[in-house]
Amino acid sequence: MNFHIMTLFPEMVMSALSGSIIGRAIENGTVSVEAVNIRDFAGNKHNKVDDYTYGGGAGMLMQAEPVYRCYEDIIRRIGEKKAETGTVRVLYMTPQGALFDQKMAEELSEEENIIILCGHYEGIDERVLEEIVTDNVSVGDYVLTGGEIPAMIIVDAVSRLVPDVLSNDESSLYESFGDGLLEYPQYSRPEEWHGQKVPPVLISGDHEKVARWRHEQSLLRTMERRFDLFKKYVTEHPDEFVPKKPRRKKKKIE
Ligand code: ADE
Repeated sequence: MNFHIMTLFPEMVMSALSGSIIGRAIENGTVSVEAVNIRDFAGNKHNKVDDYTYGGGAGMLMQAEPVYRCYEDIIRRIGEKKAETGTVRVLYMTPQGALFDQKMAEELSEEENIIILCGHYEGIDERVLEEIVTDNVSVGDYVLTGGEIPAMIIVDAVSRLVPDVLSNDESSLYESFGDGLLEYPQYSRPEEWHGQKVPPVLISGDHEKVARWRHEQSLLRTMERRFDLFKKYVTEHPDEFVPKKPRRKKKKIE
């Protein structure tokens, strides 16, 4: 899996992705990430890549030509014969895009190359977006200062689905959403902490009971925290027993 990130802040992207599991995947060659500086394609003395918007209004816009040259350079290096639109997925990070979710991450993990375009200022000249972007992607209904953090989210969520990026132990972690439910709560030693005991079923040694309890907890947690996902799950599994929602424990304020 090769990510090509078009950005005005390449150091920010590379430094954030060089640690932890993704850093290890980059080091061992399972994943490659290059952050390409759009400013290198400015084509003018001052490396200027932004200008005023036609029609007036506050703020500057990233110009079409540097973005397009940067894209062409990446396409050429990927080895495409022609810079044809649609041959490589080009994700434009924008709050106006489709909401990124686990399903999209799974679909993207099948690609060999993904180009991610990070916007800044008031956005990017629409004409180059029309010409090169295949997917407009948002990471949530809020506005960030640029597309770099969203791009890192995509790289992280997609990379962990690429074979051999996670070790066996790691891949069993965070399986929320895999079956459309949030993951059940987990406990480690000691058996009692701050007066709270580990649920007895987990130390019963009865694997079937443990599995049933975990599934119930997943359902309850999804019902409490993500009713939208819960409704979808219940519609898709109409015959399944749904446990009663427990009364919420009030937190004591001392
Ligand atoms: N750029 C600014 N805000 C964004 C968001 N919510 N998602 C993706 N890109 C963005």
